[in-house]
Amino acid sequence: MTWTMARRAERLNPSTIRELLKLTERPGIISLAGGLPSADTFPVAALRQACDEVLAQHPREALQYAASEGFGPLRDWVAAELEAQGLLADPGRVLITSGSQQGLDLVGKVLLDPGSAVAVESPTYLGALQAFAPYEPTFHALEGDDEGPLPAALAAAKGSRFAYLLPNFQNPTGRCLGAARREALADAALAAGVPVVEDNPYGELWYDAPPPPPLAARLGGQSVYLGSFSKVLAPGLRLGYLLAPAALYPKLLQAKQAADLHTPTFNQRLVHRVLATGMLPAHVAATRERYRAQRDAMAAALSAHMPAGVHWQVPSGGMFFWLTLPPALDAAALLPRAVEAGVAFVPGGTFFPQGGHANTLRLSFVTVPPARIAEGIAALAGVLRGA
Ligand SMILES: Cc1ncc(COP(=O)(O)O)c(C=O)c1O
Repeated sequence: MTWTMARRAERLNPSTIRELLKLTERPGIISLAGGLPSADTFPVAALRQACDEVLAQHPREALQYAASEGFGPLRDWVAAELEAQGLLADPGRVLITSGSQQGLDLVGKVLLDPGSAVAVESPTYLGALQAFAPYEPTFHALEGDDEGPLPAALAAAKGSRFAYLLPNFQNPTGRCLGAARREALADAALAAGVPVVEDNPYGELWYDAPPPPPLAARLGGQSVYLGSFSKVLAPGLRLGYLLAPAALYPKLLQAKQAADLHTPTFNQRLVHRVLATGMLPAHVAATRERYRAQRDAMAAALSAHMPAGVHWQVPSGGMFFWLTLPPALDAAALLPRAVEAGVAFVPGGTFFPQGGHANTLRLSFVTVPPARIAEGIAALAGVLRGA
């Protein structure tokens, strides 16, 4: 007997990043490769107390099956949060998801047929390319400049089922769209009739100034907005959410039902309980302070050590620096040498929907303490100089 796989199975690829992380987990390696938040920021005490309270007060409900839409009070909290950011967000259009990664999958499932065009930034979040790929779309890479995707490129993507955009501290480049570019992109999307899927897991991680309002504030019903508790609380909770227009919500809900019935009830109640204590603003402020110091340490180390010909911009938020090497260098080919020298990064080519750009790489500054960041950057600079 042989297994005959569906065509979409061919489109399921291992994340090169996950494969790489195995390599970089070797003891002694300074890994600037991971996309993980710092475990030192996890609010363990608050979660432990919330655990006790939920189990003491609502054990039967917290451990039972529940509505696919999500826990009502958590949906209310999300809607209020989004309203504060300028979105028109009634709780009835909020769907709690198992991480925003699931939101990406649901959007792909509901909106994509084989051959549908999806407009994406180039580079973009690899996990989104992975989530959409099994639905067999063609990726239309949006041309961009230093400030982000070009409105004219979005206008030219007319006919796409949607544009997938990351305005805040993009993964992988760390780039944040300015207010004028946001407005121009939203207007181009409205004019071309291209709906926007806006992914915002990093918006709270700003270190210089809060980002401008979301694209969805201008786009209204022509957008799906995705958010996450992964970077502000803990990713292991697998808790995210989406805000969808009324025309799309029922189908996304049915897709969610088919996928996993609902996001774990216990986790939703736990997080709602933690949020109800009012701890989040101070918690996020402390995380910002920690990450800002690490960002500054990486900026200083790059300036001190990198040879001429290596380019980067200091990100104003998020978790990543994006480096461009001289054109002749191939970051993936250099990775084994870097690991040999005790430091790891993610080669940038993997983030481009059409490949290429081998001379780019991504560095995370949030999981390694400042002194080790400096050490890691010095080692990486040595490898680049040698190349
Ligand atoms: C841009 C982007 N979107 C979505 C996700 C998925 O996050 P979640 O943990 O909410 O599924 C990530 C995770 O790193 C990300 O970087």
